[in-house]
Amino acid sequence: MAVIAALLITLSIFSLIPLGNALSLNYYDKTCPDAESIVTNAVKKEVMKDRTIPAALLRMHFHDCFIRGCDASVLLNSVGKNTAEKDGPPNGSLHAFYVIDNAKQALESQCPGTVSCADILALAARDAVALSGGPTWDVPKGRKDGRTSKASETAQLPSPTFNISQLQQSFSQRGLSLDDLVALTGGHTLGFSHCSSFQSRIHNFNSTNDIDPSMHPSFAAKLKSICPIHNKVKNAGTTMDPSSTTFDNTHYKLILQRKTLFASDQALLTSPKTKDLVYKFASSQEAFSKAFAKSMIKMSSITGGQEVRKNCKVVN
Ligand code: HEM
Ligand SMILES: *[C@@H]1O[C@H](CO)[C@@H](O)[C@H](O)[C@H]1NC(C)=O
Ligand SMILES: *[C@@H]1O[C@H](CO)[C@@H](O)[C@H](O)[C@H]1NC(C)=O
Ligand SMILES: *[C@@H]1O[C@H](CO)[C@@H](O)[C@H](O)[C@H]1NC(C)=O
Repeated sequence: MAVIAALLITLSIFSLIPLGNALSLNYYDKTCPDAESIVTNAVKKEVMKDRTIPAALLRMHFHDCFIRGCDASVLLNSVGKNTAEKDGPPNGSLHAFYVIDNAKQALESQCPGTVSCADILALAARDAVALSGGPTWDVPKGRKDGRTSKASETAQLPSPTFNISQLQQSFSQRGLSLDDLVALTGGHTLGFSHCSSFQSRIHNFNSTNDIDPSMHPSFAAKLKSICPIHNKVKNAGTTMDPSSTTFDNTHYKLILQRKTLFASDQALLTSPKTKDLVYKFASSQEAFSKAFAKSMIKMSSITGGQEVRKNCKVVN
C-alpha cells in the first residue's frame, strides 16, 4: 500500500495529474437526482439564443481540465492582487460563463451545496456537443472545485504553434495518449479563432517562406485577406471549420486538404500514428464520434479540487 501511495505521489509530482477523487455515474442519484436535466435545460435555453455557445463551453472545459485538473479553476474571478485564469492570455476566446452560472443557480435552489461547478462544466460540455449534432456520453461525476486560479498557469496550455512532440508531451503529462490527442483535436469542428492564433503562419513565416508551406496556398491567401499584417479590425478571425456550429468530422478532412488554421492541427500529419488516425476519422464520422466520446470521458476525469463551491466565481 505504502509503495503504491508513494508511486502515486511521485507520479503526480512529475506529471500534472493531480491526485483526485473517485468519480461515479450515479454520484448525485440520492442527493440531487435532477442534476443532469437541470444543467441540460440551462444549456439548451442559451444555445437556442446563441449558436456560438457550444464551442465556448467545450473549450472552457478543455482549459479547465488542462490546468490543475477539471476543478472549475477556469470559472474563478480575479480577487485582489490575484489575476485568475479567465483574465490570463487566451481570455479573448473564453466566453459564456453565464451559462454555467445560470445552471449553478438553478441547482443551488434545488439541492444547495451539492453539485460542483467542475461537474456542471463537464456536463455542459457534453450537452454542448450533443446539441450540435455530435455524440453523447455518460459523464462520471463527483469532481470537486479547486481554490486556486492563476493567470500565469494558462502558459501550461498547449500552443497552436506546437509540433507533434510538444503536443504529445502536453497530453501525456495529463495521462492522455496520441489517440486522445487526435480525437480531442476534432473539437475544432466547432467555433472561431482570432487572427493572432495563426498569424505567424501567414505572414513572414520564416526567412525563406512568407507562408507556412504546410498550408494550402489558396487557403493562406484567403486568411491573409481576413487577417492582414497590420490588422485594424478588433477581434478579426474566422471559424475553424465552415460548418462551425455542427459537430462533425469535417475538421479532419480540412487537415488532409491542408486547410486548417493551426500548425498544431496540421502537425497531426507529421507522425505515422496520428496521420493514420486523421485518415480514419476523416473517412468515418462514426469512428470519430466513438473515439471523441471515449477521450472526453478520459480528459474530464482528471480531477483536482477540494470543495463544492456555492458560487462558481468565488471560493467558499
Ligand atoms: C491540441 C491542443 C490544442 C490547441 C493548441 C488548441 C488551440 C486553440 C486555439 C488557438 C483556439 C482559438 C482561440 C482564439 O484565437 O480565439 C482554439 C479554439 C477552440 N478549441 Fe482548441 N486547442 C487544442 C485542443 C482543444 C481541445 C482538446 C478541445 C476540446 C475537446 C478544443 C476545443 C476548442 C474549441 C471548441 C474552440 C473554439 C472556441 C470558441 O469558438 O469559442 N481545443 N483552440
Ligand atoms: C486578457 O489578457 C491580456 C493579457 O494577456 C490582458 O491585457 C487583457 O486585459 C485581458 N482581457 C480581459 C478581457 O480580461
Ligand atoms: C518540436 O519543437 C521542439 C522545440 O522547439 C524541438 O526541440 C523538437 O525537435 C521539435 N520536434 C519535431 C518533431 O519537430
Ligand atoms: C522555413 O520553413 C520550412 C518549412 O518548415 C523549412 O523547410 C525551411 O528550412 C525553413 N527555413 C528556414 C530558413 O528556417
